[in-house]
Order: sequence, then C-alpha cells, then structure tokens
Amino acid sequence: MVHPVITPRALRTRARSAVAELGGGPSAVAAVMRSVVAGFARARGMVLTDAALDAAGLLSRADGPKSDHLLSNYLFLDGAAVDDLVLEEIGYVYEALLEVSSRRDNGAHYTPPELADEVVAHALAPVASADAAVVDIAAGTGVFLLASARYLASSCERPVAEIVTRCLYGADIDPVAVDIAKLSLWLLCEDPSLPLTFLDDRILCGNSLVGLVDADELPAGVDDPQAYADAMVAVALPLGGRPGRRLEEAYAALPRCRRLPVPAVRPIHWALAAPAVMARGGFDAVVGNPPYLGVKRVRDAIGQELRDYLAHTLAAGTTRRADYVIYFLLRAAALTRGEIGLITTDSISEGDTARFGLGALLDRGWQVARAERSAPWPTAGVRFAKIWLTTRPLDSAWLDGRSVPAITGTLEDGFSLPEPARLDLDVPLPHGYQGTIVLGRTLVLTPTEAEALGRGPLGHTVRPYLSGEDLVTPCGSTASRFVLDVGKLGLEELAEDRSLARLVRSKVRAERRRQFVKYPQLKERWWGFLSPVDELYRDASGLSHVIAFSKHSKHLWPVLVGADHVFSNGLVVYPTQDPAAYAFLASDLHRVWAVRAGGTMLNTAYRYNPSRLRATYPFPADLGPLSPAGVALLAALDRVGEERRIGITGVLNLVGDPDAHDPATTDLRQAIADVNHATARLHDIDESLATPDLTPSGFGLTPTRQRALMAALVDQNLALAEKAQASAETSGTSVETSPR
Ligand SMILES: C[S@@+](CC[C@H](N)C(=O)[O-])C[C@H]1O[C@@H](n2cnc3c(N)ncnc32)[C@H](O)[C@@H]1O
Repeated sequence: MVHPVITPRALRTRARSAVAELGGGPSAVAAVMRSVVAGFARARGMVLTDAALDAAGLLSRADGPKSDHLLSNYLFLDGAAVDDLVLEEIGYVYEALLEVSSRRDNGAHYTPPELADEVVAHALAPVASADAAVVDIAAGTGVFLLASARYLASSCERPVAEIVTRCLYGADIDPVAVDIAKLSLWLLCEDPSLPLTFLDDRILCGNSLVGLVDADELPAGVDDPQAYADAMVAVALPLGGRPGRRLEEAYAALPRCRRLPVPAVRPIHWALAAPAVMARGGFDAVVGNPPYLGVKRVRDAIGQELRDYLAHTLAAGTTRRADYVIYFLLRAAALTRGEIGLITTDSISEGDTARFGLGALLDRGWQVARAERSAPWPTAGVRFAKIWLTTRPLDSAWLDGRSVPAITGTLEDGFSLPEPARLDLDVPLPHGYQGTIVLGRTLVLTPTEAEALGRGPLGHTVRPYLSGEDLVTPCGSTASRFVLDVGKLGLEELAEDRSLARLVRSKVRAERRRQFVKYPQLKERWWGFLSPVDELYRDASGLSHVIAFSKHSKHLWPVLVGADHVFSNGLVVYPTQDPAAYAFLASDLHRVWAVRAGGTMLNTAYRYNPSRLRATYPFPADLGPLSPAGVALLAALDRVGEERRIGITGVLNLVGDPDAHDPATTDLRQAIADVNHATARLHDIDESLATPDLTPSGFGLTPTRQRALMAALVDQNLALAEKAQASAETSGTSVETSPR
C-alpha cells in the first residue's frame, strides 16, 4: 500500500497540536517525540518500541500519558510516512516544540543540514580519518554529528556505523535533545543489532563549559574520580572560580570531607569522559553551533556566579561585555588539538566578543583558516557568521570566499604581523594631499554651462574638475565636469563677467546660505571652496602632470593626470611627475603597505591614507634608481591605453585578464614586474618576493608573497624605529615610536 508522505511543516504542526492535546509540559513533549522517532524508524524498516526506549532510559515520560491512539491520529494520520524526510527533521520537530523561553535561554536554534555540512566539510577535511575524534559541545539534537558521520564515512569509505561508534562525541545541557541526538545517530547506522544505549558514554548530558579537561588536575589515587571532579567544581563555583588562597584551601579540604559536595550544575569532565582522546592532546575537531547571548541576557540565563566561574576558568578572569558564545569558543580550543568549525553570531568579530574570544585564541597561536562574516539565517531574521580555526601552519586563508594572506581577530583581511611603528624619516616623496572640498552643487558645471562661461571675460576661472570616479572609469581618466574656481577673486572683480556674477550672486549665494549653519567659516568668502587646499596647487604649479589616486578604489593604482585640474576630495594627489616616484607608487611594495598598514579596507575597496603611509613606511633615502623602471612603465601603460582607447581601469582590467596575451599587454605586465623588482632591490629585499603572477583571479602577488613582502617591510620599519630610539636615548631626546 502506498502511504501518503508527510511534509516537514505538516509534521511540526501536527506535533505541536499533539503536545497541546496531551496537556503540554515535558512528558507530553517526550511522548510526542517518541512517536516521531518511532515513525522515522518505521520508514527505515526498524522497530522502536516504548519498552525498548524505557529500557534504554531514552525520552522518559515521568507520568506516561496514554497517548498511542492520540499520537497515531495526530502525527501519522492515514498511515502517513516520513520516508522522504532527513533524520535532522526529528530535531526540528523538537525545536518546534520547545517553549520560546527555554529556547531563548539556551540559545537553541537548530542548524539546517546544508549549513552543518559546509561547516563539517571544512573542519574535518584536514583531519579526516576513521580514527579522528570529533565533538560537538552544544550538540542539540545532533545535526553536526549526523553531518560529521556522513562526511567521515564517505571520505574514509567506511560504514557509517563504524564512524559513529569510533569517532563521534557530543554534549548538550538539554536531556531531551541529547536523547534525540542518540536516537538520530542510531537510526543513521541502520543496524537494529546496535543497542539503543550504544552512545551513552559518548553523547553526554550536562554543562559542557564546566568540568575537568586535564586529568592531572585531579589528585593522585582518588577513589571515585567522577565524584571528586564534581566536588572540585562544587567548591569552586561559589568562589566564582577565582584562583587564589581561598580556592586552594577549599580544594585542600576536599579529601577530609565525609560526603563530597555536589555542584549545582552538571559538569562534563572531558578528561574522564574521553580519557584516551584527551591524553593524546584533545579532539581532532570541534564542530557546532553553540548558543549566543548578549552580555545582559547571559547574566539572566546563567547567573553571576557561573558567569564569573566561566570567566575565570576559561578566560583568565575577565570577559567584560563579551557574548556567551566566547566561552564555547574558548572551551572548544581547550578541547582540541586541531580544527574548530563553528556557526556563530556575526558579532564574534566585534568589541569585547572579538577581543576575549578570537583575539585571545589568535594570541595563543590559533589562526582563522576561513570565515564568512555575515550571512542571513535561513529561517530566523538574524545574521550569523561561519568560522574555521586551526593550529596548522597556513599559507593563506579564505575570507568571504576570497583568498587572503591571513584573517585577523576581528575577521579582517590581515597579515598577523607586528604593528609597524611611527617613524620620523626624511621621506623622498612629496606630500600626498587630499583634493579640494568644493561643497555644494552650484559651483560645479556641466560641459555646456562650462563652455558658455568659458567664453566670457573670466573664462579662465572655469576649470576641469577631476573626481575619484573620473579616475576609475574604464574608458578614460578625464574630467567629466567643470568647476567655477572664483574663490581668489573679489566680488567686485566677478562683476566683470555679468553671466558669471549673476550665477554666483543668485544660485551660489542661495546654496551657501543654507550651508552657513554647518560651515560658518564659509561666511567670509562664500563664493570660494570649503577647503581649497592651496598648498597642493602651489606645489603643483609649474608641473604639467601630477600623480593621483582614487581614495576608494578596487585597484589602488597611481594615475598620471594633467596638473591643470581642480582635484576633488575623492582623490589623493602627489604633486610630482617624477617617474621614480611613479614607479614607487605603482609598486606592490607601496600597495601592500598602503592597504595593510597605511589604509583601511571597506568591503572590497581600499581607502587610501597617505599620511599614515608617510608616517610608517620604511622609505629608502632616495627613489632615484627607480626612474628607468618608472619611464618604461608609463610608456607601456600609454601604449595599451592608446591602442585600445581605454582609461587606466580598462588597462588594469586587461592586465588582470588571463586571456589577454597581446604583445602590448604582455609588455605592460613585464614593466609592472620590473618596477616591483627594482623597488625590492632598493629595499634590499629578495626580488622574487615581488614577482607578480597571472592567475585566474588576476595579475598580482600571491597572498604568500604579499605576506612575505609585508613581513620584510615591517622588519625594516621596526629596525628603523629601534635605531631612532637608540640614537634618541644617546642624545637624550625622546622619539615617539608607538604603533600607529
Ligand atoms: C544554537 S543550539 C544548536 C544546537 C545544534 N548544535 C544545532 O546546530 O542544531 C545551542 C545548543 O546549546 C545547548 N546549550 C546551551 N548551553 C549549554 C551548555 N552550557 N552546555 C551544553 N549545551 C548547552 C542548548 O541546549 C542548545 O541545544
């Protein structure tokens, strides 16, 4: 007979109604969950009776409601079957039955299988073997354990039952969830000869954060290690786990106790539960989705005493405003010798949560191998992060799907190198200025307005206005707008040109009036720019060209542009046309430093900050030797641009296109490599570190080379800072060499 197949949603709704019909409460939930599990067993040709569950002590019903008839009517109406449902659905039914309050206090949102599969795959890949020990310390109904069992069985080509019995460990504070996890794994094994109790010593019920990790913490020769370890927790808890004389005295008094004290929480002593695993240095991997709770809710949920205890035993005393999740992260690190893969709150990278969680682990030698910073949770309206940590040496890491040299404790792209010091060098490069802040729209002209005013007696005040966007358009780096640069003229002089004076006195003045409240400094010369940056134009006078960067750009590439522009504040301008300066600014040594130590990263674009670069970069005394490489690079850029009639962004896109092999593009790549090599030579750094490669993701340095180059430059920065410090000490002056 063909049974109607039930949908996950219908099953959850029916389970909720069945619990309500049975009067609600834990016994009703247990009764309904028994029927759900039995339904899943039936679909796999296995039989799961109440008697068997009672004997195994699983999903016990304190007052055992008479429910069989009710349940078969509610849950599997008309013999409906669950054939198509994944085993994880058992847990999701339970999640649907959890009271909102208990779900909130335990931070229980069970993970969809595809997310668990992803976390497990990356965490277990480096340690996959049929002997690996994997644990989920907030296992809930076992979603990550099911995923781990399937992953290891398939990658090691072993029967899933063998993996489940040899490799998996788990724990949860919720006894019903623990029973469901055990039963789900039993069903996964599809081996009716396995006793239902087969995971009793592997999947534990208790507080995963509390208990001994290291057997050496127990005094030698105690009769009942479990009771003694419990007693150690019992006396430490009221003292908030604070190390010191009182705690030592309490421990010292234990051997004299006639009855050992029992703690208010149920600890899990991993040193006793998994002695062989802990003796070899811990689990190979910890996976899961531990609970997250903001600092205020933590106190309500677990109380101040336990919170203090966790802070002292897991986090060296303080965790300030950190999220609850960091205790699970720190515990995970204490329990494993290898890999951690977790789903977690996206605030893991923020404030005290980052500082006391990931930051603390990175300080202890852990590295973030992979992270996805913020994704929407498939069902609830929250965002979450995925993180994978390792103790393995890493060449590079993956951040939001991109290969990066390393990931910092705030989940940013970084190098994990010492902070560079501020230096006080004679910099062989002119000052880099941020462009003019025009402020307002009325001084900016369209080409038609500009043409009309340009013909008038004050036509010279109509000037091309180059913005950051102009610089990065793929077709050309020319000004698309014009600006009225009249700030240096008096109002009476403006009267010489009637159309221009009319525009200024009407539109410009009206706009400026609205701006006076916020910018009172404009009142005096309101027809001028908010910030004219006179020094920039003074330094640029007499030059035909200057070097400009767009402040926010994907490429961070210098562009030689006409010096006769008004430059917008979206640009950083170096008033020089020296090819040696151009070569330096185009080199990957400058770029790597500007991005890592001299600027900040906004999503995938860089914010260029020339003052920080100037203050920290270990500049050589003279850039002159770079001149020939700079001349060649400028010529190669011109050739590609002219041949294709494209601007700098178009040229750079072509350079990064793995299919572009025409002679001009190939020569340009060589010129870029030559500039890098010449700059490395000038720094006395191994040239090969500066060799760019053409890969499917573009033309540039591999993450490994970027990091090596940055490490060499940081070394030079620190050596220069030390030298300056030493000479200041001998001459009795003080030098500021604090990190930026
Ligand atoms: C977000 S749920 C995730 C469950 C499971 N890992 C999943 O993704 O489906 C968090 C789980 O942590 C459990 N939990 C909360 N505090 C715990 C503690 N101190 N020790 C062990 N488990 C805990 C809750 O009962 C809940 O099952």
